[in-house]
Amino acid sequence: MPAAVAMSAERPALMVRPCFQQDLELVQLIYAHHVLTGAGTFEIDPPSLDDMTARWGDIVQRGWPFLVVCPLSDLSRAMGFAYAVQYRDRAAYARTFEVSVYAAPTTLHQGAGTLLLKELLGMLRADGVREALAFIGDSHNAASIGLHRKLGFSHVGTLTNVGEKFGRMLDVVVMQRSLPPLAG
Ligand SMILES: CC(C)(COP(=O)(O)OP(=O)(O)OC[C@H]1O[C@@H](n2cnc3c(N)ncnc32)[C@H](O)[C@@H]1OP(=O)(O)O)[C@@H](O)C(=O)NCCC(=O)NCCS
Repeated sequence: MPAAVAMSAERPALMVRPCFQQDLELVQLIYAHHVLTGAGTFEIDPPSLDDMTARWGDIVQRGWPFLVVCPLSDLSRAMGFAYAVQYRDRAAYARTFEVSVYAAPTTLHQGAGTLLLKELLGMLRADGVREALAFIGDSHNAASIGLHRKLGFSHVGTLTNVGEKFGRMLDVVVMQRSLPPLAG
């Protein structure tokens, strides 16, 4: 079980662990916030708890990672989540995964996203995944672009004006990072 822990003097101590079904109420609330207020995701209507449960079930049933981050002081309080899915279904894409990461609005810029993404990439690498992709809604999404850059992703392209939300045409920023095979 992954148990990445981050501790520092100014920030709350956080731990990453697998997402269980009982976490999904908080996961749904976090995601709904970003759907309703941000352009990082191009969904317009927040998925219901049943929708999120189905998405989570599909990912974990395929053996793909779905993680939450919580404070060490309360391991039941998910403050962010991240997951990875195979980029496309065709078999040739089996070693290329797309990552997604969301932090609760109360937790932003306190290291939760870094901890989640680092752990997710470590799990993908251990599973033999060779390329990680991120499709980030909105060229102005400095937090997500900064997070992915911090964790070794490079900007590989921009799909211009492919989304429309809040009355604005929005880009998708494509970022990619290679995962070297584990020795042995
Ligand atoms: C992107 C997101 C997950 C980052 O989570 P977070 O917990 O705030 O990230 P961290 O605190 O670990 O910060 C990691 C890096 O991201 C960047 N970053 C985070 N918040 C930032 C901000 N407000 N402005 C600019 N850069 C920011 C910085 O490079 C930061 O590194 P630093 O701490 O060394 O400065 C969070 O902002 C979020 O949920 N955004 C909305 C959803 C979204 O766009 N998700 C991506 C879709 S794939």
